[in-house]
Amino acid sequence: TGHFTYDPGFTSTASCESKITYIDGEQGTLLYRGYPIEQLADHGDFLETCYLLLYGELPTKAQKDDFVHRVTYHTMIHEQMSRFFTGFRRDAHPMAIMVGTVGALSAFYHDSTDISDPHQRMVASLRMIAKMPTLAAMAYKYHVGQPFVYPRNDLDYSSNFLHMCFAVPCEDYKVNPVLARAMDRIFILHADHEQNASTSTVRLAGSSGANPFACIAAGIACLWGPAHGGANEAALNMLAEIGSVDNIPEYVRRAKDKDDPFRLMGFGHRVYKNYDPRARIMQKTTHEVLAELGMRDDPLLEVAIELERIALNDEYFVEKKLYPNIDFYSGITLRALGFPTTMFTVLFALARTVGWIAQWKEMVEDPSQKIGRPRQLYTGYPSRDYMPISQRR
Ligand code: CMC
Repeated sequence: TGHFTYDPGFTSTASCESKITYIDGEQGTLLYRGYPIEQLADHGDFLETCYLLLYGELPTKAQKDDFVHRVTYHTMIHEQMSRFFTGFRRDAHPMAIMVGTVGALSAFYHDSTDISDPHQRMVASLRMIAKMPTLAAMAYKYHVGQPFVYPRNDLDYSSNFLHMCFAVPCEDYKVNPVLARAMDRIFILHADHEQNASTSTVRLAGSSGANPFACIAAGIACLWGPAHGGANEAALNMLAEIGSVDNIPEYVRRAKDKDDPFRLMGFGHRVYKNYDPRARIMQKTTHEVLAELGMRDDPLLEVAIELERIALNDEYFVEKKLYPNIDFYSGITLRALGFPTTMFTVLFALARTVGWIAQWKEMVEDPSQKIGRPRQLYTGYPSRDYMPISQRR
């Protein structure tokens, strides 16, 4: 009963209007506020992309300087937060730490939980973009048992992040600009992707008026799954499991077998049915990073290139329009940068935070916004009478 459409997985339901990101899955197009992802990745930087997503326009030089200054001002987290970290088991998955600590920010920044005030909404947005690298680096440091490294506000966003992750007190550490640029590009590529599962989660959580820190924590929880942000971790683990090009045919056979649940991780996308434009840029970045680090002969890269070649020529993958997605190559790059696989989804969350927050702001500022409330198709029992326990069999 009722006048609604049954659409599991929302494959044909638009949940909102948005001016932020445009995807054309048939053409393999991705635009942030109208700008092609290729141009932003080649010529822009991550903080400029953040400004664009939040404000709708590329900044002038003065606007950019001011924005960078304001984000930088918020990079520290309250010192008490470091004690929050030590409550986690030392082998905790960094994503578990992120879900907890980002949610906990709501308790530290009560002022910016007032979502009715536009100024506070912007302060919350800047705080989140500024503090995510600090929290992500702390999750990493905790995970590997090293002391936390404070943010360095003389460094750019991505260099500061690499510094917080990889500097150790007893050694000189200088960020390699080629690697920092690659990190920045990875952040740009992941910054937004319209109404995917985690972004829809953020919007749904926010539609009740929940504070933005709690909404982003909900998005992080959703991103964690292997069908979404966890795919880069899963893709790299799969490449390692395949191990050598000789084993590829067996894995391709399994991926095609209806009775085998195995899927080629890093292949396929709900929207891109031609090619994931981010995958192409990512592939280029992977080669740049491996060349810089003298790792051109990386065996996993060899497996990846061969697997891509075989799959792109295989009838099953062609027919189902399954192409490598961004996660297929990002794992190899992140590993080369020095991150363990457990950090991959954390890096995705760091980058996607701006997209989540831009989408949250757009929703809160939309006068037609309503609380999200999907309907259901009830398939349970009709009404029946309560039976005393003595009479149940
Ligand atoms: N390997 C083998 N077969 C596949 C794969 C794969 N990776 N992906 C889809 N298929 C098959 C699937 O079995 C189905 O076959 P059939 O029509 O015979 O039942 C058909 O292709 C359509 O798949 P679907 O699961 O109905 O498509 P979807 O749009 O619901 O799923 C997806 C998209 C990305 C979840 C899926 O392709 C997948 O599980 N890929 C592997 C995980 C992955 O790489 N995820 C990252 C997504 S991109 C980053 C992000 O957005 O977070």
